[in-house]
Amino acid sequence: MRVESSPLALLGATGSIGQNTVDLVRRYADRYQLVALSARTRGNELALLAREFPAAQLCLTDPEARADFVGAHSDLVDRLAPPGEEGLLELVAGAPAGAMVLNGVVGSAGLRPTVSALERGLDVALANKEALVVGGQIVLEAAERGGGRLWPVDSEHSAIAQCLRGNPKDEIRRLWLTASGGPFRDRDPETFGDIELAEVLRHPTWDMGPKITVDSATMMNKGLEVLEAHLLFGTPLARVNVVIHRQSIIHSMVELRDGAFLAQLGAPDMRVPILYALSRGTHQECDVAPFNPLESPELTFEAPDPRRYPCLDLARQAGEAGGAAVVVLNAANEEAVAGLLRGELSFIEIAPLIERALVQVDRPAIGSVDDALALDVETRLRSRELVAERARSRS
Ligand SMILES: NC(=O)c1ccc[n+]([C@@H]2O[C@H](COP(=O)([O-])OP(=O)(O)OC[C@H]3O[C@@H](n4cnc5c(N)ncnc54)[C@H](OP(=O)(O)O)[C@@H]3O)[C@@H](O)[C@H]2O)c1
Repeated sequence: MRVESSPLALLGATGSIGQNTVDLVRRYADRYQLVALSARTRGNELALLAREFPAAQLCLTDPEARADFVGAHSDLVDRLAPPGEEGLLELVAGAPAGAMVLNGVVGSAGLRPTVSALERGLDVALANKEALVVGGQIVLEAAERGGGRLWPVDSEHSAIAQCLRGNPKDEIRRLWLTASGGPFRDRDPETFGDIELAEVLRHPTWDMGPKITVDSATMMNKGLEVLEAHLLFGTPLARVNVVIHRQSIIHSMVELRDGAFLAQLGAPDMRVPILYALSRGTHQECDVAPFNPLESPELTFEAPDPRRYPCLDLARQAGEAGGAAVVVLNAANEEAVAGLLRGELSFIEIAPLIERALVQVDRPAIGSVDDALALDVETRLRSRELVAERARSRS
């Protein structure tokens, strides 16, 4: 019997999550059909994918990159949506009923497409944690209204979802998110002022896009994941713990009320949680990432040192303060990371910049996607100015 392949709209196809997803689609071509592909700037890579997957509608969100694409790939133009958010929304709207949207975009740019997919009743495999934390309850309400379901792609949240299969929420005592600790887990914090960009981008266990790699070094990534876990699993923030686990073998753990722990283990390979999300929470045959416990390194656990990872505390504080503070936290962080990647901000300036933005938050909650994105833009402008000021003071 021939099984119909599931339609898949892939946002952020040229990134690290996107490429891992394409790898799975190639391996299991009978299971998935790509109906949409997006990128921001990498037009030539998008064109290669477009030729390989001829059923996919396309979007290149960056207007300049799109103009170059139109000049270089005229045969693909009739499959191309408009630039910007409008194009992403068009891809979501054009996906057939029953399609899944894998959101592998970086940052708050993925918020509206996520909400729009969930409202249409489409399931979303969500790598783009920033969309969920910025939208907060609004994203969850869109899912409830429209009937779409969120399937976490982050390995930690996928691990927790797997551990929770069959265990009711009221049996949870605590969630334990594991963290590698990033490249500076052993470095003397007194020397953080000398950190070079190349060192920030050298993650000890995962090969990922630049923004999440920087966020892993500051542990803002784990802070965002604490907020993500709170939203996805309805667990109070105070009961979402973080533990440094250098080996990245245990992807996260759930502590139940009788003291039992459930953990999900495996080789650090994002294709496993991506496949679990694409398979809507079922374990499918998969020949990637074998893990042999007999060859496992010793598994270790340490508490994160707040002096080394101030961003982790800032994320918790913002989560406790409310939705507006979380939007500000995320926007200031996105701009700080962009500043670092451009060489305009140093590693130790990231946390103070975010802290400064958080002091200016003047309301607890946000009421709509428009409110969230307006505050996001406002914070970005202010943060960009602060980054520019820092750069000027150094030159
Ligand atoms: N990488 C991982 O292993 C991993 C693990 C867990 C969670 N995540 C999460 O997954 C998301 C993607 O991470 P990544 O590492 O795959 O990032 P990445 O390698 O930088 O890729 C991001 C993708 O999104 C596109 N993009 C970037 N900014 C955009 C914008 N403003 N609007 C529309 N598209 C945009 C990029 O296009 P161009 O490249 O063409 O410019 C690229 O296709 C992040 O939220 C991250 O936290 C990643």
